[in-house]
Amino acid sequence: MTSPELDPYDHGFQWDPYPYYRRLREQDPVYFNRQRGFWLLTKWADVHQAFRDFKTFASAGAVALEADAVDKFPYPMFISTDPPDHSRVRRLFAPLFTPEKMKALEDYTRKRTLEFLQPHLSSGRLDFVGDLAARIPMDVLAVLLRIPAHEQDSVRGFADDLIAREDKQNDVSPRNVAGYMGLAQYFERHVALHLSTPNDGSLLGALIQAETEAVMSHAEVIGALILFAIAGNETTTKTMGNLALRLWQHPRAARVVGRRPLPDPASRGGVAAL
Ligand code: HEM
Repeated sequence: MTSPELDPYDHGFQWDPYPYYRRLREQDPVYFNRQRGFWLLTKWADVHQAFRDFKTFASAGAVALEADAVDKFPYPMFISTDPPDHSRVRRLFAPLFTPEKMKALEDYTRKRTLEFLQPHLSSGRLDFVGDLAARIPMDVLAVLLRIPAHEQDSVRGFADDLIAREDKQNDVSPRNVAGYMGLAQYFERHVALHLSTPNDGSLLGALIQAETEAVMSHAEVIGALILFAIAGNETTTKTMGNLALRLWQHPRAARVVGRRPLPDPASRGGVAAL
């Protein structure tokens, strides 16, 4: 491409990546970023094929862009593995994510969402991300990982610190390392606390049992817990935040999804109405 390289750490790109993706899809669907040395596929069929062909498109050593991530984040995460290691770990989780179990979790999520909204009903105002989108994912994750209510904010704070990026920051910062270490220390204590309790069928229970039966190493268990704390927290919060923003910007779309439109951004100083 003749235009400047796409910078995934540029907040301008992150704010609205879709025009970049569209341009790549049209002009350079198998794009190689020379500056940072990564490939980017933007067509569904290519992504689908790559996901299924782990021999050609390995995950090991290929998930984080930062060259120093491996040294600074020492616990192994199964997201960065390929079969058979990956299958060994994923097999443990299959019984925990059946449609029935997900239905129960969905019911819980709906109930908790209403509880989070309840205090704001009388004023009709809430900070969509602060009061709901940032809280509900950790609340649900806490069921899977048995994180007590009073510890959820600090776990979320560590996860947020770990993934926080200043504009154009392209290496691992002291804040990122502090967040990672905070999570590692928290989960070391958490596992030690539950080591002798019987497996209760939770994700935490399955991981501890895997360690006890030597299916996973202790470091892999801590790495998996850190991964869940990050993956279950920021993706969902940001998707919900982006969804609210888009509905706010596109009132007709908001009507289509059955809600009354959110108010004009300028009129509420960034606080969305219920
Ligand atoms: C809108 C929400 C979410 C999005 C967009 C999302 C997106 C993704 C993507 C793209 C990957 C593949 C990354 C890669 O292979 O490099 C991934 C993997 C993963 N996600 Fe999510 N995710 C979301 C929610 C969650 C939640 C709620 C959890 C946990 C409860 C979670 C846990 C994981 C885990 C453990 C992996 C690694 C899977 C593996 O390697 O087998 N994600 N996610």
